[in-house]
Amino acid sequence: MNSKKALSKFSKIALIFIFIFLKTPDAFSQKNHSMAHENNAVESKIDSIISLLTLEEKVDMCHAQSKFSTKGVERLGIPEIWMSDGPHGVRAEISWDSWDFAGWTNDSITAFPALTCLAATFNPELSGAFGYSLGEEARYRKKDVLLGPGVNIYRTPLNGRNFEYMGEDPFLASKMVVPYIKGVQKNGVAACVKHYALNNQELWRNQVNVEVSDRALYEIYLPAFKAAVIDGGVWSLMGAYNKFRGQYCCHNELLLNKILKKDWGFDGVVVSDWSGAHNTYESAMFGLDIEMGTGTDGLGSTTANHYDHYYLATPFLKSLKAGDIDESVVNDKVRRILRLMYRTNMSSNRPLGRKNNQEHHDVARKVATEGIVLLKNKNNFFPIKDENITIAVIGENATRSMTAGGGSSELKPQFEISPLEGLKMRYKNATIVHSMGYATGPSVYDAVIPSKLDADSLRVEAIKVAKNADIVLFFGGLNKSHLQDCEGADREQFNLPFGQDELLNDILRVNKNVGYILVSGNAVEMPWLNSINGVIQTWYLGSMAGYAIADVISGDVNPSGKLPFSFPVKLQDNAAHSFGELSYPGKDYNQVYKEDILVGYRWHDTKKIAPLYAFGHGLSYTSFNITDIKVDKKAYTPQDKIKLTCQVTNTGDLEGAEVVQVYIGKQKSKVKRALKELKGFQKINLKSGGQKAVEITIDAANLAFYDESISDWNLEKGDYIIYVGNASNNIAETIKVNIK
Ligand code: BGC
Repeated sequence: MNSKKALSKFSKIALIFIFIFLKTPDAFSQKNHSMAHENNAVESKIDSIISLLTLEEKVDMCHAQSKFSTKGVERLGIPEIWMSDGPHGVRAEISWDSWDFAGWTNDSITAFPALTCLAATFNPELSGAFGYSLGEEARYRKKDVLLGPGVNIYRTPLNGRNFEYMGEDPFLASKMVVPYIKGVQKNGVAACVKHYALNNQELWRNQVNVEVSDRALYEIYLPAFKAAVIDGGVWSLMGAYNKFRGQYCCHNELLLNKILKKDWGFDGVVVSDWSGAHNTYESAMFGLDIEMGTGTDGLGSTTANHYDHYYLATPFLKSLKAGDIDESVVNDKVRRILRLMYRTNMSSNRPLGRKNNQEHHDVARKVATEGIVLLKNKNNFFPIKDENITIAVIGENATRSMTAGGGSSELKPQFEISPLEGLKMRYKNATIVHSMGYATGPSVYDAVIPSKLDADSLRVEAIKVAKNADIVLFFGGLNKSHLQDCEGADREQFNLPFGQDELLNDILRVNKNVGYILVSGNAVEMPWLNSINGVIQTWYLGSMAGYAIADVISGDVNPSGKLPFSFPVKLQDNAAHSFGELSYPGKDYNQVYKEDILVGYRWHDTKKIAPLYAFGHGLSYTSFNITDIKVDKKAYTPQDKIKLTCQVTNTGDLEGAEVVQVYIGKQKSKVKRALKELKGFQKINLKSGGQKAVEITIDAANLAFYDESISDWNLEKGDYIIYVGNASNNIAETIKVNIK
């Protein structure tokens, strides 16, 4: 074709495209049009575009062109898609072709608290603000897809990635994930809910084959994903690395084609986890739409563009051309990708985004303060009001950056206030002396590289500092290095690392006035618990960490966070660990979730194994009463809503917030049941002496169990017990109701 002809062909196509793009009423700007009309308009634009694309162009849209982007089609003005991690902040810019940082100077962001903290707020509205702010930052950074949130269920405290997720309860995770997604997507940025599904450990994540019953799958591991899709309307989803029932989750017929796309009607894009695709035919046929991050077996060094070797690149094109795979398969993927584009980078009225602004910092601080959980407070050790004292701040976690490390959720914040800085700013008149206490070394591989610092002299120094102080605040826990709270591996021990237990015992010998500040995204063993006065769980709090911790320690903010997972006394008390190797970590890369539906508090409750700290537990500096607990009827039909009301009174001297938690259980059932399951909650703020009526509505249909004999939900008739309290192990009252 000579250049004139080519030009005229190009301009014809371009004109058609411009006509389609401009002349068709723009779905996103016509506010009065019905959703159906908007969808139809977009779908017919997509039809027209698909008819203009060559097979090569279609295939090009289905795989990466760089570490975090996919190709557009320049001649039709179809843009590239740009993605970025992650769940609690937009990751620094990564190079085109390697994991190295691009070295930009304009990519620092607000680090928001990690999602365990967000879940601990039990505040869905705040989750919406979190998602919106994060989406604004992603938009400012010109991202079309934000690779988060993660909603894998907390099954074992050893999972290195629990800190990125929303805890052990499917109902809590579902309620928290929906507003987050809506918030992100209001910015014309797609959330990408991950890792679908059963990626509940990092150890062997690329090999392990998970076997779990249908019941546990539907009742425990899928609900948060389902809520993300159906209630949150999420635009993309990431497959998990592991296998489920013998098939990799990134191309899994049951999970992706049947459950996600058919049963839940997901109309968005399935993205592979980076290197999660393993086969062309399965990727094409079993639900994957965009392949990312695949290694190329060294083929990259022999050709100009190793992305051509992706399973959904040249091999896919060949299969399509040979007729082994029908063109409708690639058309469906391209349709989904274009739909995502109309929602994001081809939408005509996306806001521009913002980053590092005051509002985002405020949201980050609010989430951080609301998510911090006061676990223990003997003799009102906290809040620390007296300023004319000497405070010994012991531990590396008082100063260590917790936004670096952890894997793909690492961040490059514009600033990060450490706990020590926060305390110094808050307690201007106090004498604050910091001593590192224990040694971990500087890299993210701390746990495997011995520190150059001398452990003995650190210990001696810390004991000296503690001895001379009025109060000791020990900032310990885990960190974001390998084998701690970090992607790619699990923790190897349930107790605290780096000799913290011994150091704490040594300190207790010289000063009994000790509070422990647990910086972690996971439960840890606390053999010293009875000897210390207070424990605060502070998670990974991001940019505003130090401010938020000082807010709570000083009582400027009254803590109201509740644990989104149980703390077992010892590892074997956790359900997954009580069944031996096959249950965790698996044998020969095969794993069976033997505890079945009894995950977290469901296990502790049902088996009567008291946890160290229960799901839903969290203290306050004030006290609350939950009284007048009533339901509107004695008996309900499956279509009914159960209306539960109660009065909450702040009986203490300070303003504060309480979370009313409603659990429901069925004692007589044809299947095994957990004693009780969370079915509703509400957080309310009350002034000292204040009282408020709380109403919580529960669909009777939500009491159904997943019946394997009919492969569907089954609402059993009969009596159910409703438990109302402020923690799974602190129930104020129970009520019996009947389902007719
Ligand atoms: C992680 C994902 C992440 C991706 C891209 C993978 O290793 O599992 O969560 O989004 O990398 O960085």
